[in-house]
Amino acid sequence: MDSIIVTGGAELRGQIPIAGAKNACLALMPATLLSEEPLTLTNAPRLSDIKTMAQLLQSFGAEVASLHDGQVLSLSSHDLTGVTADYDIVRKMRASNLVLGPLLAREGRAVVSLPGGCAIGARPMDLHISGLEALGAEIELRDGYLHAVAPRGLKGAVIEQRFASVGATENIVMAAALAKGTTVLKNAAREPEIVDLVKCLRAMGAEIGGEGTSEISVQGVDRLRGATHSVVTDRIELGTYMIAPAIAGGEVELLGGHIGLLPAFCEKLDEAGIHVSQTPAGLKVARSNGRARAINVRTEVFPGFPTDLQAQMMALMCTADGVSVLEETIFENRFMHAPELTRMGAQIEVHGGHATVTGVERLKGAPVMATDLRASVSLILAGLAAEGETVVSRVYHLDRGYERVEGKLSACGARIERIRTE
Ligand code: EPZ
Repeated sequence: MDSIIVTGGAELRGQIPIAGAKNACLALMPATLLSEEPLTLTNAPRLSDIKTMAQLLQSFGAEVASLHDGQVLSLSSHDLTGVTADYDIVRKMRASNLVLGPLLAREGRAVVSLPGGCAIGARPMDLHISGLEALGAEIELRDGYLHAVAPRGLKGAVIEQRFASVGATENIVMAAALAKGTTVLKNAAREPEIVDLVKCLRAMGAEIGGEGTSEISVQGVDRLRGATHSVVTDRIELGTYMIAPAIAGGEVELLGGHIGLLPAFCEKLDEAGIHVSQTPAGLKVARSNGRARAINVRTEVFPGFPTDLQAQMMALMCTADGVSVLEETIFENRFMHAPELTRMGAQIEVHGGHATVTGVERLKGAPVMATDLRASVSLILAGLAAEGETVVSRVYHLDRGYERVEGKLSACGARIERIRTE
């Protein structure tokens, strides 16, 4: 398992290109199941999660070709030979559950393993199940698998989610695209990745409106055609790299970034005294002088502060001037980066969903361990500002969501390298 060594203290200057969004691409790829015609995705990120999704789709008989060094994915599911998403794939990547809605819509049946727990929480699927049942699916849990059938096809319905689940919204919208009649999804998730998925489905001939608002309406059609779609910029990678100059000092331009992807996050960076400006090429971020100011953060569904940037903001608050409180409202166990940051001299107290951070002048490099995707990168960010060397082990977590992190940061002057082990 590879490790990454960061030697802290260097200010960062330069540009970082931001890739296509992992969480958009993981919903766009299963959309190929909705049509017999080819779907081409450009600006695709080069990540291990994308490879995992390609393997899953191929296990159904879909063809997935990765072109132009992985930045273009050519998908086709003309002839499907299977509808089962195995536990060994789903447990590694929860997003595998996004094949449930498309398989039901296309084949009228699906067998999808429950993902099982993951590091950040139980991650149930009750909202996916109730939404698809409202469309006429019959879903039974047997031997850890969801056995779903739609013997009479799917029929449009009015659905109100108790929580604006991203994945459930994606599964329901994809299934409704081929259902008979109209579906209205209330308390729909509003994330930019949902908007991107709807744009792609519309290019495939779907009749959908309201994306980006809390109410999405879908007029089912008989069939969908192929399309070519460019994956939206990854707002979580963008926000992650915005923290790099904020914590290490200097000035970095994030190519392809724009404030509309991260309104609440940019407001919080401004409150912390970090200068963010829009340029023709992207977002420029600079730490005007000295330490960031301590601020309070509460994670919320979009357009609120993203839970996927909570760990990264915590790293910044560890070196901020003052005391900050971070409240995690989306997942039940998303502070696993805290004990690792504490090993670097951070002062953090976690009580349930609240973490209180007392900023220190300098963190100290230390050997630390990645536990989940976003926690891993928060340790890299902390290492940029720490005195001495930080060795982050188990970076396979990192490679799920960040392409070439050491390359992107070292291009801006960071002292960072990957140590390949067996
Ligand atoms: C998506 O996960 C993202 N993953 C997550 O990013 C992100 O953290 C999350 O949305 C929230 O923004 C992808 O898009 C592939 P949810 P998803 O359904 O769809 C509960 C990353 O780091 N819930 O909005 O699984 C659930 O337990 C990953 O890139 C139910 O209770 O998120 C959680 O507490 C991590 N029942 C909350 O809702 C359900 O049926 C948010 O879940 C579904 C969800």
